[in-house]
Amino acid sequence: MLKVLVTGCAGFIGSRVTRQLLDLGHLVLGVDNLNDYYHPRLKQWRLNSLIANPRFTFQLADINDPSGLRRVLVGAVPPVSAVFNLAAWAGVRRSVETPRIYYETNLFGTLNLLELCREFQIKRFMLASTSSVYGDEVDGPVSETIPSNRPLSPYAASKVAAETLLYSYHHLYGMDAMAFRFFTVYGPAGRPDMSVFRFIRAIAEREPITIYGDGTQRRDFTYVDDVARGAVAALEFSGFEIINLGNDNPVSVNTLVSLIESALGRRAEIRYEPRHLADPVLTWANIDHARRVLGWAPEVSLEEGINRTCAWYLENRDWARSMT
Ligand code: NAD
Ligand code: UGA
Repeated sequence: MLKVLVTGCAGFIGSRVTRQLLDLGHLVLGVDNLNDYYHPRLKQWRLNSLIANPRFTFQLADINDPSGLRRVLVGAVPPVSAVFNLAAWAGVRRSVETPRIYYETNLFGTLNLLELCREFQIKRFMLASTSSVYGDEVDGPVSETIPSNRPLSPYAASKVAAETLLYSYHHLYGMDAMAFRFFTVYGPAGRPDMSVFRFIRAIAEREPITIYGDGTQRRDFTYVDDVARGAVAALEFSGFEIINLGNDNPVSVNTLVSLIESALGRRAEIRYEPRHLADPVLTWANIDHARRVLGWAPEVSLEEGINRTCAWYLENRDWARSMT
């Protein structure tokens, strides 16, 4: 049994990683600043499902505040032995409007945590990175070894920088360090700024949806509990690794809309806007490395995952309809 620090524990992926760590018997110290990038009520809903567990402790803290984080770590009994850094600003398109906050949190927040790991002798660090680092260099399943120096957005660039910093700390201090490149993650209680939540909400509420471009852009949509299982498997590994966690089955935005229409039994009213320059045309994970290093493969098909996500929305519709 380990004591694990999870940053961004009230977030979409962080809450599922926390749940799986608790289910495996670990102690989790969760921190989050509960910011209003999207409606904090959804973050509180996710937290409510965790706080009943006696092995979970929540601390309201900001990864941009090293003194606050130090207080959290000083008070941890037993001491923390691994960190999952899932706190971030994560909107691809929105990062074009407010790039500074993306660098502050995603890069300097990571630096703060790595420095504290050094101070507190924490030897294992897992970082959430992104498929966005591949930019438009993708024409088939892409492996971790291709260069990632042409990101299309400040968000993607901030994650390239954080991955690079992680390697330095592995090199200098012998930390076991792993960066996961997650591919467009979706599922129940997902992020309201992302396509899946936006489309489900709008179609269920008989509002129009917006498609950026002609909808032929493809994403390797990956179910949240699959990526959380891959991340948690990293507690067993040593060394430095960058690992794709994707579905290896990209589908177009148009196909996604059709799947949601079938699940909800209702047609979408579609409006089109120009393709956003920060959006890659295709994401597609080669997952050979994840299979080899973590013994990982995705298990939930897109159809099944969309059905589960629609069912969650309908069950929570009273409040979820006002999430944006
Ligand atoms: P999310 O926004 O739901 O979760 C992030 C959480 O971090 C939020 O609860 C937020 O309040 C918290 N947070 C943000 N800044 C903070 C700060 N300074 N201090 C403390 N807490 C802070 O996003 P998510 O989709 O769960 O993403 C989790 C991680 O995975 C992020 O690093 C993101 O970049 C990465 N990622 C997500 C996806 C995806 O498709 N969802 C894909 C690739 C990578
Ligand atoms: C997602 C996450 O938001 C990022 O945090 C993450 O890093 C990234 O995946 C990743 O894979 O690494 P994105 O792929 O843009 O980014 O996710 P969505 O918001 O679900 O968008 C998918 C596609 O649908 C994009 O082409 C987008 O332009 C399109 N879209 C989205 C629409 O056409 N309409 C919408 O209302 C929303």
